[in-house]
Amino acid sequence: MSRIVYVNGEFLPEEAATISIFDRGFLFADGVYEVSTILGGKLVDNGAHLARLGRSLKELDMAAPCSMEEIAEIQHELLKRNDVEEGGLYLQVTRGAADRDFAFPKDAKPSLVMFTQSRPVIKTAAAEKGLAVISLPDIRWQRRDIKTVGLLPASLAKMAAIKAGANDAWMVEDGFITEGTSNNAHIVTKDGKLITRDLSNKILHGITRKAVLALAEETGIEIEERRFTPEEVKVASEAFVTSASTFVTPVISFDGVAIGDGKPGLVAKRLRELYIDFALKSCQ
Ligand code: PDD
Repeated sequence: MSRIVYVNGEFLPEEAATISIFDRGFLFADGVYEVSTILGGKLVDNGAHLARLGRSLKELDMAAPCSMEEIAEIQHELLKRNDVEEGGLYLQVTRGAADRDFAFPKDAKPSLVMFTQSRPVIKTAAAEKGLAVISLPDIRWQRRDIKTVGLLPASLAKMAAIKAGANDAWMVEDGFITEGTSNNAHIVTKDGKLITRDLSNKILHGITRKAVLALAEETGIEIEERRFTPEEVKVASEAFVTSASTFVTPVISFDGVAIGDGKPGLVAKRLRELYIDFALKSCQ
């Protein structure tokens, strides 16, 4: 069964949806995106995703295609037209179509594209079994705080991890972990501290990371927001990732070394449960 997708003002079957070959998203990766999780046919923490979309647009001096309220209305109409219980809603804004020129066009109309993806969110094999992660150099640009569609380095890292028999990669720059290919990276030390990289241009300011840190704090877990090294990961008692698509998912090995007892850790399990409760409550 074909999906209904949204493209520049129209809801269409996916086969009928098109974008210009001159779209700057296609020619220059001149676009930004958000992924909101769908639970029970509703969107998780969507206000925070739209706020970050607004920030990404502002940082790139890109016009919004319409107001954030209108974007939310389109998202909800798309949910109505697609019967998705669990999955993700992808939305992308580009600077629009214009003849190829490195300088920004003066009068291009921003493009807005949205589609849904149906997949399990709560009960996943990765959450049960945990992930095997390897380290790889971070070769991305220096504005990782902006959620752009320039995802080739992340895609290459993911493929290198899969080729090496792992599930994902944590990227390393100047001797410190930045983040996962499409998630934020966290460890729990042997004395129970949650260590997560501090926010800067070096990582995406994850919406899930923020909510999970707040939940961890409420639970009384001590949090240190600072850089950490691959060596610290190997001697950690636990490790986990956070993202809209993985929620909280345990990491059980790093560069072939088992983390803790090599099984999903208790802190990650507890934070996943707490986050699922939060996600269900935040749904709209
Ligand atoms: N990725 N870091 C990177 C590089 C990401 O691409 C993502 C999200 C995150 C986590 O952010 P959030 O918690 O806001 O989802 C961190 C999405 C899910 C994706 O590209 O599919």
